[in-house]
Amino acid sequence: MAFPVVRGRRLRSSAAMRNLVREMQLTVNDLVHPIFVTVGEGVREEIPSMPGVFHLSLDQLDAEIDEAVELGLQAVLLFGVPATKDAVGSSAYDEAGIVQQAIRRIKARAPELLVIADTCLCQFTDHGHCGLVHRDEATGRAVIDNDESLKVLARTAVSQAAAGADIIAPSNMMDGYVQAIRAALDEAGFENTPIMAYSVKFASAFYGPFREAAHSAPQFGDRKTYQMDPANGREALREAESDVLEGADFLMVKPALAYMDIIRMLKDRFDLPVVAYNVSGEYSMVKAAAANGWIDERAVVMEMLTGMKRAGADIILTYFSKDVARWLNSSRNGCPSDSQ
Ligand code: PBG
Repeated sequence: MAFPVVRGRRLRSSAAMRNLVREMQLTVNDLVHPIFVTVGEGVREEIPSMPGVFHLSLDQLDAEIDEAVELGLQAVLLFGVPATKDAVGSSAYDEAGIVQQAIRRIKARAPELLVIADTCLCQFTDHGHCGLVHRDEATGRAVIDNDESLKVLARTAVSQAAAGADIIAPSNMMDGYVQAIRAALDEAGFENTPIMAYSVKFASAFYGPFREAAHSAPQFGDRKTYQMDPANGREALREAESDVLEGADFLMVKPALAYMDIIRMLKDRFDLPVVAYNVSGEYSMVKAAAANGWIDERAVVMEMLTGMKRAGADIILTYFSKDVARWLNSSRNGCPSDSQ
């Protein structure tokens, strides 16, 4: 018998052959573009640790939205950097809050573009936690009050839906947040507004640049009593399952790169769309290495996002969205990795 019996290289022999047998393809439809909106006029301020990502005031938003639409992106994710913060995060649910204003403006300009609203309190509280803080009488320690936080989060979600948000994306990791938000949305007449649940959100050091960008670092303690321990995969399934039972419409895993196994587990176990969040630190690492000439940015980004999709992500939130859309739009077969 001739040797080798199996010749895998036959199907890699040319670009056409590789295009023919490629198992999956990243498309512009898979991407969500995150945007940081801030107060003021004429603000277009680059975030130092995230080159190419900006704080935009409302007037600067129009050009960003036009560009997203032109590139064929289907959705943007909004983060607000508000004028004022207080202990209870009241600027999060203010009808005239920065996120609510941005939603109205985008929906007026580009009604077809999906607007996803991040629903959390950390940018809006002076202590920087994702929920309300209360002092435990017995121990004197500051604790995150889960159930009181739910009320504020639900109110925030309703204000975002009322402003026109197409999808509510709660990232706070409080217990019961999907149920609380679903009930409040339904009661306010937004029963058709889906919830993209940050179901499995790990207490990750990869959020560093985002916290700088959103001015949302906790002022004391950390987020480990609500965000998950990176070591726990089975617990991730429990988190996702509770969100499914509470009525989530999408399940998110965050961050993405160090958690590809979790993406695959959710994909195999549940039937809802799986979302991967390619977070700020993952973006900054690539940018820094590319700026030094140590890696090929485009090739590395395509490989990372392809890996996320192969792992099971149906949707990818990434600060590279505009670049990737540009690359995909300019490559004939939609796979720029082969044209390099
Ligand atoms: C918190 C929130 C975080 C991110 C989005 N919303 C992280 C955190 O500080 O816990 C991180 C996103 C990123 O790093 O890109 N509501």
